[in-house]
Amino acid sequence: MMDINAMKKKFADVFGAQPDGLYFAPGRVNLIGEHTDYNGGHVFPCALTFGIYGLIRRRSDRTMRFFSMNYPEAGVLEASLDNLAYDKAASWTNYPKGVIWAMGQKEVQIPSGFDFLIDGDIPAGAGLSSSAALEVLTGLAVRDTFGLSFSMTDLALLGQKTENDFCGLSSGIMDQFASAMGRANSAIFLDTAKLAYSYVPLMLKHAQIVLTNSNVKHSLVSSAYNERRQQCAEALARLQAKADIRTLCDLKPEQFEAIKDVIGDPVITRRAKHAVYEDDRTVKAVECLKKDDIKAFGQLMNASHISLRDDYETSCPETDLLAQIAWSIPGVYGSRITGGGFGGCTVSIIDNDAIGAYEAAVDAQYEKQTGKKADIYVASVGDGAHRIE
Ligand code: GLA
Repeated sequence: MMDINAMKKKFADVFGAQPDGLYFAPGRVNLIGEHTDYNGGHVFPCALTFGIYGLIRRRSDRTMRFFSMNYPEAGVLEASLDNLAYDKAASWTNYPKGVIWAMGQKEVQIPSGFDFLIDGDIPAGAGLSSSAALEVLTGLAVRDTFGLSFSMTDLALLGQKTENDFCGLSSGIMDQFASAMGRANSAIFLDTAKLAYSYVPLMLKHAQIVLTNSNVKHSLVSSAYNERRQQCAEALARLQAKADIRTLCDLKPEQFEAIKDVIGDPVITRRAKHAVYEDDRTVKAVECLKKDDIKAFGQLMNASHISLRDDYETSCPETDLLAQIAWSIPGVYGSRITGGGFGGCTVSIIDNDAIGAYEAAVDAQYEKQTGKKADIYVASVGDGAHRIE
């Protein structure tokens, strides 16, 4: 938990006034269903208790002022409601600015600016969706401050629009949805084609969700991510010559196998294969969890990693090594890279009694082989974005 009193004191120092409200939006970890959300498939993320806290105060002019306690050296960054353009030099403030821009695209204009101070504990560049958390946090704080009528799902969609059309990452809806809609001790089984969802209690009995940050920063991912999305669109267009489908995940694996030759390109075929099989794995994994079969759930996680490594090629040597180490420890049910990829974290489900052995194995091997230190966290699954006070 953040030091709220320190945040309030800083707010008063920096902006010379008291805030109107305190809000929180979490980061997320995806248990399975990777790179399916822009292919009309299923995902299975949960909200973390790591997240971003924000203090907001309404102003009477058209200025927005921003301060991050994570980047105090940047000082106060300002922007005007009359100039909502993306600006590289505006760094993290592009996300809140983008949310205000996205509201404008929905014909919702806020009447005045605001002061906004944030502090967060999501490890940066770890693939745990700090940007989605910031988008959802801004949407919620601004909605309440100005009495707007967006639903939590609307706020997730506004965050995705910010990411896609303001910041230039063609991401799906998973991260923002998980941050907005998470529930403590449950994962969200989301059908991204319909935005239909249900909560599945995480009854892991004697096991925990363990995050391991490879500390490979995934900051240059946007071009590779957008390329994957492009390749999936290409595969879909070619497959549509043979099947009446709207998305790749409309196909079951057997249907895909029967018509895949029409794609006619080995790389694009592997990308599509990942999406189709990953969706199938996700639906099966949720069934396993509901039946309390953590072992089978973990095996599907492992298969997901192998597919991301070999077919989708969004893993990297460091996360492959972490998964490999995990798979060698008795008591680890499953382990895979999570999130957009190209670095970031693995997520593992590990028996309480085996966590020590896993940590020791990572300690003994990871730095020696990669020159980097890994950070290991036992995750706790918390609620989605909300007002604290
Ligand atoms: C990133 C994107 C999500 C999703 C994942 C991969 O986190 O923001 O929309 O596509 O990658 O599953």
